[in-house]
Amino acid sequence: MSAQIGVTGLAVMGANLARNLARNGYTVAVHNRTAAKTDALLEAHGNEGDFVRADSLEELVDSLEKPRRVLLMVKAGAPVDSVIEQLTPLLDTDDIIIDGGNSHFADTRRREAALAESGIHFVGVGVSGGEEGALLGPSIMPGGSRKSYDSVGPMLEKIAATYDGEPCCTWIGTDGAGHFVKMVHNGIEYADMQVIGEASDLLRHGAGIEPARQADIFTDWNSGPLSSFLIEITAEVLRHEDPATGKPFIDVVVDSAGQKGTGRWTVVSALELGSPVSGIAESVFARALSSQRSQRAEAQELLAGHEVDVELPENFVEDVRQALFASKLVSYAQGLDMLTGAAQEYGWELKLDEIAKLWRAGCIIRAELLDDITKAYASGSEPSNLLFAPAFAEAIGAAVPAWRRVVAAAVQLGIPVPVFSSSLAYYDALRRKRLPAALTQGLRDLFGAHTYQRNDKEGTFHTLWGGDLSEVEAADTH
Ligand code: 6PG
Repeated sequence: MSAQIGVTGLAVMGANLARNLARNGYTVAVHNRTAAKTDALLEAHGNEGDFVRADSLEELVDSLEKPRRVLLMVKAGAPVDSVIEQLTPLLDTDDIIIDGGNSHFADTRRREAALAESGIHFVGVGVSGGEEGALLGPSIMPGGSRKSYDSVGPMLEKIAATYDGEPCCTWIGTDGAGHFVKMVHNGIEYADMQVIGEASDLLRHGAGIEPARQADIFTDWNSGPLSSFLIEITAEVLRHEDPATGKPFIDVVVDSAGQKGTGRWTVVSALELGSPVSGIAESVFARALSSQRSQRAEAQELLAGHEVDVELPENFVEDVRQALFASKLVSYAQGLDMLTGAAQEYGWELKLDEIAKLWRAGCIIRAELLDDITKAYASGSEPSNLLFAPAFAEAIGAAVPAWRRVVAAAVQLGIPVPVFSSSLAYYDALRRKRLPAALTQGLRDLFGAHTYQRNDKEGTFHTLWGGDLSEVEAADTH
């Protein structure tokens, strides 16, 4: 029996994608570096579809119909290069290697270019949805040559989640475009989780609402514009009691958040692109700060708070909901804006409506909001920033009074809300007629002759600060 696709790397994500493919009628060859995982998969789930067991990469390749499709589900980084190196001599022109891990997009670009020389297609695929998504239908973001998509696209679309009958999978663009979009998805995921955390902290330590009662509030919020997977599971986590102590589960969890790195990559890449993803960056820094446990312990001893008692507005819970919604919108706007910058830099034609569309189901950031975002970009008059789409300009504008009240209260109470407040600063900075950047330019010109431009005439100028303070035209070094 020849298989239509081979999967190597049968940890949970790989095994579940292999099962998903088999359950959808494909014959799937399966391989793992240590055969025990292959045995475990076939023993537990071999009856779910047609699997072909492969004990080596050679056997895997030999079992595939041509052009061959090999899905790598190995750890991002060096293991991907190592498997590619072993596979390449076994493959022919037009065969396709698919990397379904969370690889860095720059690695994907490098690998795609190197393999293209030998006529092998390399498809970097962002897969979101965790273990369950991989099995039941993830959101899939494939990048690579258009030709390779003709071969792998239909299979990926078949195993993807669906929204209104449409698969949450579409060709994103060449080389690393798919992994880039997945990386930005994760940056938004970090910000989304951080704003939920800030809301919960304010409800607990501002309004004194205990986790179990908060769970009801989040459940309630989940039936409105905030409706999303993350809000839904927040209610579940907040409601959970620790079986050992009877305490709220979150009270027995150490409050330092880890990361595998995709959020950090988003911010590093945004810095390189000059893309202001301040909310996403703050969410990455919030995790980093939470992990500095010994410094935090020292700070608790050494640093004064001088918190101010504030009378919370009567509708504080509703205010927090609105601040959460507005900050979340900003994170999406910043992430999508970064995609626009990346498309220019890397020569991709990223279609924001298509991208928002495939995030509507299957992935971690799936949310009602994404359907509205899809519509905003598909309307024909693509906004240069998500917040400028009429529906969103109106929605965020309506939330501003509550948002300001919440940030002001948080500051008084000494409750850190880095993403709520930086998102509001982003919103205000965007709207502001004059920014203090003019002063920055003046300072740079004074100490470094970095030059500046004027509002009232074309050209680049320098003031003779150390001389008679006259202005001269200068070569542009700003
Ligand atoms: C997804 C997730 C998934 C995972 C990441 C992020 O889309 O299914 O983003 O890729 O959650 O590993 O995890 P960290 O929080 O550890 O960076």
